[in-house]
Amino acid sequence: MSEAETSVFGAVGGAEAVRALVDRFYDLMDLEPAYAGIRALHPNTLDGSRDKLYWFLSGWLGGPDLYQQRFGHPRLRARHLPYEIGIAERDQWMACMQQAMAECHVDAALQERLAAAFFNTADWMRNRGG
Ligand code: HEM
Repeated sequence: MSEAETSVFGAVGGAEAVRALVDRFYDLMDLEPAYAGIRALHPNTLDGSRDKLYWFLSGWLGGPDLYQQRFGHPRLRARHLPYEIGIAERDQWMACMQQAMAECHVDAALQERLAAAFFNTADWMRNRGG
């Protein structure tokens, strides 16, 4: 079977499509007032964040494990502990990613599946109450 049939990474459209999704996600975070809360948690320049999320998502979606190759186990929750993440931050992250998926024309059924998976990960990142 081809990669498109066997992995979500392939179904999304492979490396180029995943990179485009990450770039749109961070463009929107920069542009949209609705995401200003989470934008403020990030560094001034988002270049490093773009690379890291792309490398991570590549492996997370079943493609090449680019993040792990560079940094070892992601320890994602531990790496988010320096940032205060509550329900508002989780929901902004989700809204930003859902807007990016829609604008990148990810297949509608796949968007739903990915949104559920992203939600679990984003919710797990919460490290304070509200
Ligand atoms: C729940 C809301 C979230 C907030 C507010 C948030 C915020 C942040 C911030 C501020 C950084 C540091 C950026 C940098 O060092 O350039 C970061 C890093 C990162 N985030 Fe998130 N994040 C969230 C959820 C997620 C989710 C759901 C994923 C994956 C699906 C994710 C994946 C990553 C990765 C891979 C890194 C790089 C880690 C490293 O190597 O330092 N984040 N995040």
